[in-house]
Amino acid sequence: MKAKITIDLNDAIGRVDQRLFGSFIEHLGRAVYGGIYEPGHETADDMGFRQDVMELVKQLHVPIVRYPGGNFVSGYNWEDGIGDRTKRPRKLELAWNSIETNEIGIDEFQEWAKRAGSEVMMTVNLGTRGADDARNLVEYCNLRTDTYYADLRKQNGFEEPFNIKVWCLGNEMDGDWQIGYKKPLEYARLACETAKLMKLTDPTIELVACGSSGPLMPTFGEWERTVLRECYDHVDYISLHSYYGNRDQNTLEFLASSAEMDKFIKETVRICDEIKAEKGSEKDIMLSFDEWNVWFHSNEQDKKIEHWQIAPPLLEDVYNVEDALVVGGLLITLLRNCDRVKIACLAQLVNVIAPIMTETGGKVWAQTIFYPFLHCSEHGRGIALNTKCDCDTYQTSSKTDVPYIESIAVYDDNNDTITLFAVNRSLDGTYNLELSGFDGYCLQSHTVLTGNDLNQCNTAANPNAVVPCDAGTDMMLSPHSWNMFIFSKSQNN
Ligand code: AHR
Repeated sequence: MKAKITIDLNDAIGRVDQRLFGSFIEHLGRAVYGGIYEPGHETADDMGFRQDVMELVKQLHVPIVRYPGGNFVSGYNWEDGIGDRTKRPRKLELAWNSIETNEIGIDEFQEWAKRAGSEVMMTVNLGTRGADDARNLVEYCNLRTDTYYADLRKQNGFEEPFNIKVWCLGNEMDGDWQIGYKKPLEYARLACETAKLMKLTDPTIELVACGSSGPLMPTFGEWERTVLRECYDHVDYISLHSYYGNRDQNTLEFLASSAEMDKFIKETVRICDEIKAEKGSEKDIMLSFDEWNVWFHSNEQDKKIEHWQIAPPLLEDVYNVEDALVVGGLLITLLRNCDRVKIACLAQLVNVIAPIMTETGGKVWAQTIFYPFLHCSEHGRGIALNTKCDCDTYQTSSKTDVPYIESIAVYDDNNDTITLFAVNRSLDGTYNLELSGFDGYCLQSHTVLTGNDLNQCNTAANPNAVVPCDAGTDMMLSPHSWNMFIFSKSQNN
């Protein structure tokens, strides 16, 4: 079968903000304790951070990591996680029914992020707390002034500010599961006043207002409009969250998940622009898709986890080939919308719905979804190009005209290369690619990720069951595969 892909180097969607390849570490399950941090582990560094985990994180080149939640943040007191570690309180953690030891807080996490080559994207608690605590945290993290919270940071051993640039105004405040859940106007007012105090404290920061925690939330639309009407001049981004899963064991439907993400983004952009027009503003609100991933495998096992444990094994989805193809399609969708989506966070990074898994006291390995993320983060930086693909389509119970091939090309203007990412959703069809718009560029490499069985996954015992392989210089998309083609200027040009 044939698929025809057309690009035009002059038809750019926009420059990809590197923060599109962000991720997320929450105080949840074994993300922190037993994940990034395990002082007794044989690879632990001087601060107790696992170096085997750090190596994989570094491979992913994650430019920004959201922290410390997620649902966790809505009941969190940031002051519990600073200063003398022997005096930090052990607390009940009500979002995930766990025990939080506070061994790690912002003092340590900002150091971990620095060592990983990432910046922190900090979330403030607008569930049980408010504007005053948020502005104090900004002062603690970012100011040099001789004032209480900046001085406290210095007394805790950090003369230099942490310089945290991007801040989230709470987490999923539209969800009734959230500690301190709010009605649209309640949140909008609180977010607006908190934003004002935070920016008065440090005018250089950027703020993300909570949008809907999913496109199916009954308040989606009304929530965004209310929040933006109150906050427009004081915030820079609105957040989107969405998780996907093959709950009905319908692979073709699941593989088309990216159509839902695309629709969610486009509807949110429309709302932002509607409020911009209403206000006669010059400013565009950008999108921060700060939680996205596949999440469903662990739902049943999580119901059996006993309450009040330290770092229980929660949300430990084991990802297979099918999930990697969905993640690939979602990454293509984020790239296709990079003119408005400036930040995106794969939720999450280690152990909790994550590309990186560990055994506490043991091994680390990369899950299947690690690879499409790695490829896009390494080769998806530059200018995203409008990419047209003519190919067969299919329909599912909820979608029509789903193309079998989903693709995007990114031009890297530093190296003068074009990278084409493509998912073949067909379960049995091989597609031969015909390209146009690539004149003067030669195929250098073709990397493919697939498996004989869509359920294949990587485990501690078999960490390399699903890994990408070099497909030489063929232009074929094998059935159910993730592909990356790199083209560079041919010698005789
Ligand atoms: O990422 C896991 C959880 O999903 C986060 O804590 C929450 O924000 C979302 O519902």
